[in-house]
Amino acid sequence: MKPALHKLKVKEGPHSFGTSGHNMITGSKVKLRNKRLSDARNDYVWQTDPELTQLDATPLLTISYSQYLLDYTSGLRRYSNPNRHPFAIETPDGKHIGNCVYYNINEAKGEAEMGIMIGNRDYWDKGYGTDTVTTLVNHIFLQTNLRRIHLKTLDWNKRAQKCFRKCGFKPYGRLGRGNFTFVLMELHRKQWGKRQQEEPS
Ligand SMILES: CC(C)(COP(=O)(O)OP(=O)(O)OC[C@H]1O[C@@H](n2cnc3c(N)ncnc32)[C@H](O)[C@@H]1OP(=O)(O)O)[C@@H](O)C(=O)NCCC(=O)NCCS
Repeated sequence: MKPALHKLKVKEGPHSFGTSGHNMITGSKVKLRNKRLSDARNDYVWQTDPELTQLDATPLLTISYSQYLLDYTSGLRRYSNPNRHPFAIETPDGKHIGNCVYYNINEAKGEAEMGIMIGNRDYWDKGYGTDTVTTLVNHIFLQTNLRRIHLKTLDWNKRAQKCFRKCGFKPYGRLGRGNFTFVLMELHRKQWGKRQQEEPS
């Protein structure tokens, strides 16, 4: 019999988003942890930053911080969603520098979508994105039966594409949505396994 798709699901604490059941996933340069209320300030700053929202193709947030905090607080209680696993990205000394997520989990197809945003510009182009994506991908393929991870990024976001390529993602198409054109990228479990074998230990 096949093991359950999300094998390590455990009970969550009161202040964590998602149902990953993991307090901490450790990479080489980053740690991924469940979201918490104290992330709200950074998340608000990043979601109201025009450059970041442009890179991420998300709408610029225009509500006040107090309104955001109200929504965030109820979101913490509400976001117990088995289809969405968000994580905060931290440096080894505990600085919150961004967020990543896997979501749109399709158990029938054995696939999920992933996303990443490093909001703190001091940590761009230093390998934190590559380590985050690698750590999340390893987590997904080691802890679930998912067979494919896919993502989309704006066609002009060359930094993001380079980061994903370094993690083994390959482009497989393009998607036009409104004024945006996205590059679609994917990584299959088989290719990931091959890379694991090839990597020097
Ligand atoms: C996209 C993002 C996750 C990448 O993480 P990162 O830590 O900055 O990336 P890494 O350092 O791991 O890798 C980036 C690579 O792209 C290269 N790069 C940077 N700008 C580039 C450009 N304009 N063209 C081509 N390559 C570029 C870097 O040199 C690096 O390659 P190298 O390691 O071979 O030198 C992060 O920068 C980020 O979140 N940015 C803001 C939001 C965003 O773009 N979100 C969209 C995600 S879909």
